[in-house]
Amino acid sequence: ALRGSFVPKAQKATQRSQYGLQIQASYKVAILGAAGGIGQPLALLVKMSPLVSDLHLYDIANVKGVAADLSHCNTPSQVLDFTGASELGNCLKGVNVVVIPAGVPRKPGMTRDDLFNINANIVKTLVEAVADNCPDAFIHIISNPVNSTVPIAAEVLKQKGVYDPKKLFGVTTLDVVRANTFVAEKKNLKLIDVDVPVVGGHAGITILPLLSKTRPSVSFTDEEVEQLTVRIQNAGTEVVEAKAGAGSATLSMAYAAARFVESSLRALDGDGDVYECSFVQSDLTELPFFASRIKLGRKGIEALIPSDLEGLTDYEQKALEALKPELKASIEKGIAFVQKQP
Ligand code: NAD
Ligand code: LMR
Repeated sequence: ALRGSFVPKAQKATQRSQYGLQIQASYKVAILGAAGGIGQPLALLVKMSPLVSDLHLYDIANVKGVAADLSHCNTPSQVLDFTGASELGNCLKGVNVVVIPAGVPRKPGMTRDDLFNINANIVKTLVEAVADNCPDAFIHIISNPVNSTVPIAAEVLKQKGVYDPKKLFGVTTLDVVRANTFVAEKKNLKLIDVDVPVVGGHAGITILPLLSKTRPSVSFTDEEVEQLTVRIQNAGTEVVEAKAGAGSATLSMAYAAARFVESSLRALDGDGDVYECSFVQSDLTELPFFASRIKLGRKGIEALIPSDLEGLTDYEQKALEALKPELKASIEKGIAFVQKQP
């Protein structure tokens, strides 16, 4: 399978090489927003990675305890905590992968775009610090609305003269994780084998699972396609409503984000077979950013994979056209937010 769970690959990395040497953990990962609902379980999962030598946890409060707690796990990485803007630069120096789950989550009745006013500023400020301290790092944006926060990050990096579109990623892994889970449940398939590409963006109808491209090949009735597509698009809201005011997906998100971190580290480490879906700068459609499958390598995105968008069903083709105006508006809103600042 192109995308296994991150654990078996991680275990592979601890195997002895043909020379009998233990493969070294050597990558530095920073999590910004590490004391939050996503940040804490994500930090735990990243602490389990044999590829990580240093885990830097940053938040505006409450991160000291999280770091002290995690530092007792007997896995290779050293955990350090950083609190507040004055410690952000040190948190980021020398880091290979920066993950950003900082920001407010939804409550019932809200859209992801309702988070824009608060989260846009948070992402802008954090990415400015990334540009100043580790411009070469892979940047994983989790903070919503991803359809706008990724363009915000790109504009900030451009203004700082360090934008590398191959290294900026909107994390949409949770959409793929959900699609795989729901399809496996519905069709009674072995979960580990199921792989559904999800394209477009990360909000409502902009989330487009390409069920016709499911691997292994599965056939769906029109009813199943409609029901699965809507469930995948509304899965975030399903969790927001179940949590009833206590936030949005945190545990499944941490799982998904850890998978994307592990994939990035494997790519940095020279694994030539790493594919994920992500919301990135793209020329696969007329939109400047678009989520699709990408191939990851040492320098970030090695290739966008166009084949998933070829030979779509009528349902998928219509859904693709229907999502474009909303996605375009969200992208433009993000770009305008940075460009109109003095
Ligand atoms: P949370 O409120 O539990 O945690 C957010 C953390 O960010 C808090 O610890 C807070 O102190 C911190 N924070 C706030 N401002 C900060 C700043 N300026 N610098 C550093 N840290 C700061 O929220 P959560 O449930 O962890 O969700 C975080 C974000 O992730 C939300 O915007 C949510 O919508 C988004 N999210 C995205 C996806 C996705 O698929 N991409 C999935 C789930 C949640
Ligand atoms: C999700 O898909 O779970 C996240 O984007 C959080 C949300 O607000 O739904």
